[in-house]
Amino acid sequence: MTHIHSDLQRFNPVTVIGAGTIGLSWATLFLAHGLTVRLFDPRTDLQEVVDQHFKSIGSTLSLLGLPENGFELRLSIGDDLQQAITGAAVIQENGPEKLELKQQLFTDIESYINPHTLLLSSSSTIPASDISASMKDKSRMLIGHPFNPPLVMPLVEVVPGKFTSNEAVEDALLFYKALGKAPQLIRKEVFGFVANRLQFAMLREAMYLVDEGVVKMEDVDEIVKDSIGLRWAASGPMLGMHLGGGHGGMEAFMRHLGSTMEKSWAAQGNLMMNEEVISRLATKSRESYNHKTIDEHAQIRDQKQMAILKVRD
Ligand SMILES: NC(=O)c1ccc[n+]([C@@H]2O[C@H](COP(=O)([O-])OP(=O)(O)OC[C@H]3O[C@@H](n4cnc5c(N)ncnc54)[C@H](O)[C@@H]3O)[C@@H](O)[C@H]2O)c1
Repeated sequence: MTHIHSDLQRFNPVTVIGAGTIGLSWATLFLAHGLTVRLFDPRTDLQEVVDQHFKSIGSTLSLLGLPENGFELRLSIGDDLQQAITGAAVIQENGPEKLELKQQLFTDIESYINPHTLLLSSSSTIPASDISASMKDKSRMLIGHPFNPPLVMPLVEVVPGKFTSNEAVEDALLFYKALGKAPQLIRKEVFGFVANRLQFAMLREAMYLVDEGVVKMEDVDEIVKDSIGLRWAASGPMLGMHLGGGHGGMEAFMRHLGSTMEKSWAAQGNLMMNEEVISRLATKSRESYNHKTIDEHAQIRDQKQMAILKVRD
């Protein structure tokens, strides 16, 4: 039987709401750490989707050094929300990214839980204060936003709402740490939180440069992997900047390169996601990547990511 970390005992069982990309990955992580999981999703092909997922996830679990077997006895699936939720210590919600749907889900959830249940949403953009708006008790609800796939990626952005209690924040941090994740407390509710805001800022410029014909799509990947990606995986962008200033640190960097950065910001593109742009970039992506299937690319990426994870601190 899989051993449960002592810090995880009081977070058992977990209800996972939504069995899409993120929900299935969370469910796998929870099961691999010995937790009992109830998986809720109204989709009619739920059993099929779950079977397919667990058939293909074994090699990733083994690369992560996590157990691959014995999950069936601790996993139940279904489309009855009350049954899935009653008695849960933690709920990790992964339904579609729609405010009204999440608001309704959490008001429904509230009628079946005990007051100590920790209520987490994987939402990528919607603040907990908005999701919990019509709940009677908002104190145990907050965002636990993973980077896809949560089974592999260390980061979870923990974002409390205006009414989230300190105790719930501490519990969320403890829960994710005990699962081997690297939770980060985000100190203000902003749209898109932090990781995606940073990622999307850079993607906007990358897409603009490709659209303008400055660089080929696949060459952007090589440029980033051979420079920024490598540096940032080791130091992060801010320490990277501090070190870029030599012994004068961040201040020297800003005094030396600040005006150049401003010129570069002014020159950057402001791409909009309209039909023409989407169709031009989609064509370029097929030219760049169609020599392998999505699954083949994903498998190579996963292997490389896990090799990098093994050597980072
Ligand atoms: N995909 C990502 O990269 C990513 C990363 C981090 C966070 N997120 C967030 O995770 C959440 C789920 O995203 P996803 O990519 O897994 O989406 P997805 O479309 O793959 O899965 C959503 C699932 O929710 C189910 N669903 C539909 N209505 C529901 C309801 N009323 N109650 C419960 N489940 C319902 C669907 O059947 C589907 O299985 C979103 O809030 C998203 O913002 C996504």
